Amino acid sequence: MKFSTAIENQLNQAVTIIQKGGLVAFPTETVYGLGANALNSNAVTKIFEVKNRPVFDPLIVHVGCMEESEALVESFPPVAKQLAAAFWPGPLTLVLYKKKIIPDIVTAGFPTVAIRVPSHPIALELIHRCQCPLAAPSANRFGKISPTTAQHVKKDLETSIELILDGGPCSIGIESTVLSCLQHPPVLLRPGGIPLEQIEKLLGPIHSQFEKTGLSPGQLPDHYMPTTPLYLGKSIPPFLVQKKIGFLGFNSIPVLDSFAAVELLSPKGILSEAAAHFFSALHRLDQGGLDAILAEPFPNVGLGMAINDRLYKAAQKQ
Ligand code: TXA
Ligand code: MG
Repeated sequence: MKFSTAIENQLNQAVTIIQKGGLVAFPTETVYGLGANALNSNAVTKIFEVKNRPVFDPLIVHVGCMEESEALVESFPPVAKQLAAAFWPGPLTLVLYKKKIIPDIVTAGFPTVAIRVPSHPIALELIHRCQCPLAAPSANRFGKISPTTAQHVKKDLETSIELILDGGPCSIGIESTVLSCLQHPPVLLRPGGIPLEQIEKLLGPIHSQFEKTGLSPGQLPDHYMPTTPLYLGKSIPPFLVQKKIGFLGFNSIPVLDSFAAVELLSPKGILSEAAAHFFSALHRLDQGGLDAILAEPFPNVGLGMAINDRLYKAAQKQ
């Protein structure tokens, strides 16, 4: 793939930084990642420091192709091969038993590792040129709104990282689907960019355990939190009347309410478009000087399931 001179320069710098054990923010098709050489535990430790991420929350390892992932895991069962063949490169992360070569800091001491092949050309080129797997969580401070543009990363992390590779807005806009392949059939740990329906079309019915905290270690209930309090519902609750409220919805505005700001994620009602706009809209509302955000739950199908998961975690808990 041919890149612009600006991207070429950034890629060259990025490779030098990664090879020296530093951190680089880079675009993927889902969200921006904060990457380090996954085989260098000192480098990976810096990710936890910069993000202020608890060390019990393991990272995803990004590789260039299925063969590269096979070198990092004890076994790559047939079902994982089937999933990889269908969805890699793309927004699907597979949890498998790891080889010793993956440092414990990457996997929070678990005997398993989460792996994916991203489909963004800049991410793939970076992995290829670094010649190492990249451990990368989303490039935001722990618990905050995920970044889908280089500007989002800059706002949150500029002072603490050396380089942000700017690949423009992320096309999928929501993190990868995480599937555990430790048991058969696999178990859905986090809904994401590959809808559950597509996985079930391939494998038949699978269990979803993402509602239960504790299964996927990073699935903490307070995640993706805007600074402005966010409430779920279809109309402004009585305690927020007279306040400055922003609305986040799919394709229509509640008729009886009036809002200081409105973000409709897909006026045509297309879930993939809504997912692509979701985090950007949340960032804008959060910066909008509002007293609160009212967000309407999405249809719980396709990518709507992943959007709802993020909304529930972003919302105020009773
Ligand atoms: O799309 C994505 O997945 C983005 C881009 C950058 O690739 N990354 C991302 O990373 O969302 P992060 O750290 O925000 O989320 C990683 C998720 C967490 O829910 C974590 O618990 C889960 O993957 N995970 C990582 N290793 C795991 C393991 N060994 N077992 C179970 N879950 C694991
Ligand atoms: Mg994250």
